[in-house]
Amino acid sequence: MAQGFGFEISARDGKARTGVIQTTRGEIRTPAFMPVGTAGTVKAMLPGSVRETGADILLGNTYHLMLRPTAARIERLGGLHKFMNWERPILTDSGGFQVMSLSDLRKLTEEGVTFRSHVDGSKHFLSPETSMEIQRQLGSDIVMCFDECPALPADEATVAKSMRMSMRWAQRSRDAFGDRPGHALFGIQQGGVTEHLRGESAEALKSIGFDGYAVGGLAVGEGQEAMFSVLDYAPQQLPDDKPRYLMGVGKPDDIVGAVQRGIDMMDCVLPSRSGRTGQAWTPRGQVNIKNQRHQDDPRPLDENCTCPACRNYPRAYLHHVFKAQEIIASMLLTWHNLHYYQQLMQGLRDAIAAQRLDAFVAEFHAKRAEGDI
Ligand code: GUN
Ligand code: ZN
Repeated sequence: MAQGFGFEISARDGKARTGVIQTTRGEIRTPAFMPVGTAGTVKAMLPGSVRETGADILLGNTYHLMLRPTAARIERLGGLHKFMNWERPILTDSGGFQVMSLSDLRKLTEEGVTFRSHVDGSKHFLSPETSMEIQRQLGSDIVMCFDECPALPADEATVAKSMRMSMRWAQRSRDAFGDRPGHALFGIQQGGVTEHLRGESAEALKSIGFDGYAVGGLAVGEGQEAMFSVLDYAPQQLPDDKPRYLMGVGKPDDIVGAVQRGIDMMDCVLPSRSGRTGQAWTPRGQVNIKNQRHQDDPRPLDENCTCPACRNYPRAYLHHVFKAQEIIASMLLTWHNLHYYQQLMQGLRDAIAAQRLDAFVAEFHAKRAEGDI
């Protein structure tokens, strides 16, 4: 276990847990939702505003930052926290997943992956060793292993081969990371939707030993039902006393289902990205603020929400600024969505602490079933 990093579970309800991850940059209340700050910014938000929504930790991306402005430049300027003016914890993804979805002309070998930048076409190489070095230069508090995530559906042999390479890469990540007091390294479980492959991956990671364990390779096209059936066993294959992080998830109902199944951390671009396209998330489900029906509506987006968009503006205004493509439209809806996500996490933490998670989840689904006002 890395020095200066710890995880304490304070209450449990069924498979769900609530607690605190301690880092040298502050506490992370779990279950935690991490807003995505891919390129050194949570788009349309100031860091202080992200904090006001209740976020304890942000996610950053090795892939984007290594290409622009480069990890060496960020290191020279004092690290990512200082660069982006966020002093609390940052988790960085390792790059492999983003290379596969964003870069051009990839070539994958046992050594690593060579690719061309989606920004300027320049050639780059990522491996467990270079990813660990870049995440060190960024000053990341929680570093992710370098892994490969096959797109689903894929046949079992393909998933097995890929998972076994990711486990060799996990060992290389561990060796390259070394001992860095105050910085944690998380392993990433792969294995697709096959229970014995997930089990094999978990055993490999546990024998290497990590500060936390991610469930990777989900939310890649398999659908919620298949994802939940993996989450019915995958978290239990990982150590009970370490944080479990479900990567890249999800919609509010995905988050609730994942927490019920024993997940402690999640991240997703959805609240920020959909905020920029006019999609709002509320306890009553999804609202498209660009819809004509809002153009004369004097009521707030959500009468119970205390975010600036809901406190200060009617739906008619939000509708107008979206139609007019004003910058404040993205700002207000991103703030609202991040606020809603963090309120949901606080509700989940409180419900687990009070051992009333089932009732909380029933209310969550009942409210959504009512639909928008
Ligand atoms: N983000 C979403 N899924 C994954 C995954 O499987 N691996 C990594 N590194 N990042 C992810
Ligand atoms: Zn709001």
